[in-house]
Amino acid sequence: MSLFITFEGIDGCGKSTQLELFRKYLSDRGIRNMIIREPGGTSIGERIREILLDKINTGMTPETELLLFEASRAQIVREVIKPEMSSGTVVICDRFADSTTAYQGYGRRIGSESVRMLNEYATDGLKPDITYLFDIDPVDASQRMDTRDREIDRLDSESRDFIVRVREGYLQIAGEDPGRVRVIDAGKSIEKIAGEIIRIYEEVSGNETCLRDR
Ligand SMILES: Nc1ncnc2c1ncn2[C@@H]1O[C@H](COP(=O)(O)OP(=O)(O)OP(=O)(O)O)[C@@H](O)[C@H]1O
Ligand SMILES: [Mg+2]
Repeated sequence: MSLFITFEGIDGCGKSTQLELFRKYLSDRGIRNMIIREPGGTSIGERIREILLDKINTGMTPETELLLFEASRAQIVREVIKPEMSSGTVVICDRFADSTTAYQGYGRRIGSESVRMLNEYATDGLKPDITYLFDIDPVDASQRMDTRDREIDRLDSESRDFIVRVREGYLQIAGEDPGRVRVIDAGKSIEKIAGEIIRIYEEVSGNETCLRDR
């Protein structure tokens, strides 16, 4: 079995930037890897993504939103992640179940028990080996996004309070599962963070290899 790694954090924290650098690190070493994104990553999931992001869907209830995210996740876990892992690919996911806990659970204030149960069902119990949580002040993150030219979608237009709750939710998750969730100070330089990501990866993958060889 190979590793399953997720990148988490509020918009603009630097996930995509670091994903690219990490992918390059793995590929340069001949380590087979695959990057996927949530919601989406399968043809069914990409169609669900369109519904989730479409600005026309102003009437979407938090419960509908939660179920759509989980539907996309149920598909990608079974269609892509598990089969790829079985064939030895390191699978890296840009957002996964922790995003749902943080955004739908804490941001939209859906009860944490419903979210936990649906995450468990959608992921079929699959948990990441490493989750990098990029922690940053929402003000700094939003300044970073101002320099980026991408069209605003439905999920981008959230209030400051909402993002603050999401960040707190993420930190709560990290506190409950410190072995898996590694909190990265996302205010540091791109190079420093990239180094930290590799150091943690080498620590965890080294342990995996030792366990396998025993
Ligand atoms: N450590 C850093 N220091 C300064 N700027 C950074 C850093 N990391 C990323 N950036 C810049 O911040 C912006 C947002 O980064 P990025 O797109 O990687 O965030 P993201 O977490 O993927 O956001 P989203 O969730 O919206 O996809 C980009 O313009 C990127 O170049
Ligand atoms: Mg991104």
